[in-house]
Amino acid sequence: MEEIKIFVPASVANVSCGFDVLGFCLEPIGDVMGIRKIKTPGVKISKITGQKLPLDIKKNVAGVAAQAILSECPSSFGFEIEIHKNIKAGSGIGSSAASAAGAVYGINQLIGKPFSTHDLIQFAMEGEGLASGSPHADNVAPVLLGGFTLVRSMSPVDVIKLPFPTELKAIVLHPKIELKTMHAREILKKNISLKKAVTQWGNLAAFISALYTEDFDLMSRSLVDEIVEPMRSILIPEFEEVKKSAMRAGALGFGISGSGPSVFSLANGIQNANVIASAMRSSIDKIGIDFEIHISTINNQGIKIISSK
Ligand code: HSE
Repeated sequence: MEEIKIFVPASVANVSCGFDVLGFCLEPIGDVMGIRKIKTPGVKISKITGQKLPLDIKKNVAGVAAQAILSECPSSFGFEIEIHKNIKAGSGIGSSAASAAGAVYGINQLIGKPFSTHDLIQFAMEGEGLASGSPHADNVAPVLLGGFTLVRSMSPVDVIKLPFPTELKAIVLHPKIELKTMHAREILKKNISLKKAVTQWGNLAAFISALYTEDFDLMSRSLVDEIVEPMRSILIPEFEEVKKSAMRAGALGFGISGSGPSVFSLANGIQNANVIASAMRSSIDKIGIDFEIHISTINNQGIKIISSK
């Protein structure tokens, strides 16, 4: 294979009850990346459209992740990367994760797939480290593996792909302000009480169980974040109002997508998802802020190959 063009989807991390460990992959929103072999060894980012991002490989998450995979598997040829960004940086739906995951996925294909998709997570995480100040895998894992993923450990990387009911739908609302993950992480307190920790691991464990048993009521009771949401929701316009309207409209849960400002709801079935999306839309419409809203199935495949030659 000499070159590959891929669709790299957006993702929702944390999912209320699983800060830094839980995530799922979205279907309709994503970047397109082209990666091709070149004669000169090394990595070159030749073009980025849709966003103003650095072409310098040391300052770009795709460049950092690409260098990470090549440091483990040196190649006699080089790689040129083109990125067409549709996922806005600082939107909370895994923009940096998509660039990092896309770069390592594409290069792995071009060098004959020496690494499993699970192995690629560690390289993509290095790109995330550049974007947020600390590597985490809760966005790159669902982008690479598809579906819902649980990060049991980051060192060594140990990620479990989880089942989910096919009726499960996500609604993602992106209020168009930029919130840098680095900033949204800096504001977090470093310690929590034992009481809160107990509540949180109870909720996370129950949510995982609900995914296996397809128990929507249990899912709904478990989609709670008593730790991070109170610290971050103040950064998001009308968070409480939109949350109330989504829950009143029948959402299984509502929370911050990744580090925000996007917010998400989960719904049982597409009809419910439409009702919840329209409630969220009217609630944010009132404040006159520009936003985008998407209804999505859970993307069980992750990255898709558009073409290769
Ligand atoms: N778990 C991460 C956070 C996701 O909430 O900071 C954003 O990259």
